[in-house]
Amino acid sequence: MRKIMVANPKGGCGKSTLSVHIASWFARHDEIVYLGDLDRQQSSRHWLEARPDNLSPILHWDISGDDFHLPPKHCNFAILDTPAGLHGKRLKDALNIVDKVVVPVSASRFDMLATREFFEELSATKAVRKERVDIGIVGMRIDVRTHAYAQLLEFLKEFHLPMVTCIAQSQRYLQAADTGVTLFDSGASTAIDIQWRPLLNWLVSRH
Ligand SMILES: Nc1ncnc2c1ncn2[C@@H]1O[C@H](COP(=O)(O)OP(=O)(O)O)[C@@H](O)[C@H]1O
Ligand SMILES: [Mg+2]
Repeated sequence: MRKIMVANPKGGCGKSTLSVHIASWFARHDEIVYLGDLDRQQSSRHWLEARPDNLSPILHWDISGDDFHLPPKHCNFAILDTPAGLHGKRLKDALNIVDKVVVPVSASRFDMLATREFFEELSATKAVRKERVDIGIVGMRIDVRTHAYAQLLEFLKEFHLPMVTCIAQSQRYLQAADTGVTLFDSGASTAIDIQWRPLLNWLVSRH
């Protein structure tokens, strides 16, 4: 079972969007996928409830209690969406059960500053220090041809973390969020595929 957490202390940077897209990609490839949501707003949970029955199934991973119970053994991919401001014990507990952490970062100066503290906290945890957990960055709403991308790369240099891919801004993500579908369900274009592929490959890679 591959266990993936999507986290960043800032709200609105794309955690739930990434979580549901990762889940639906693997579900479409006939994997058994569970999606959990630590966020009190339960965006992924609501998205899951709105998901039409005729689409590839994604199961609900119930993590409402204080302890994290893993999904059943037959699960292939467990995806954990998280709230803004996740830190301290709750972050440590989550890091103890996952193998990969995806951190969406936008090119906004404020987001980068908030993310700096998060990276510092992450790198101080045992799971990350012992390299048991892999961290990958996803530039969210970023076009690689822009100055914003260059700035983000510059910012990331000091942390020695891989920039796995960049996902460009698109209205289609907004529409998908309301209807329980993803861009993969509705037939992604080649351009979308090119943006997501490096992330999906990274998620299945061993470290
Ligand atoms: N690449 C993108 N292009 C356009 N809108 C996006 C993109 N990524 C996320 N959004 C939108 O931004 C808003 C916040 O994203 P969300 O995934 O809910 O962030 P978080 O879970 O980190 O709070 C949502 O309305 C979502 O549809
Ligand atoms: Mg969210």
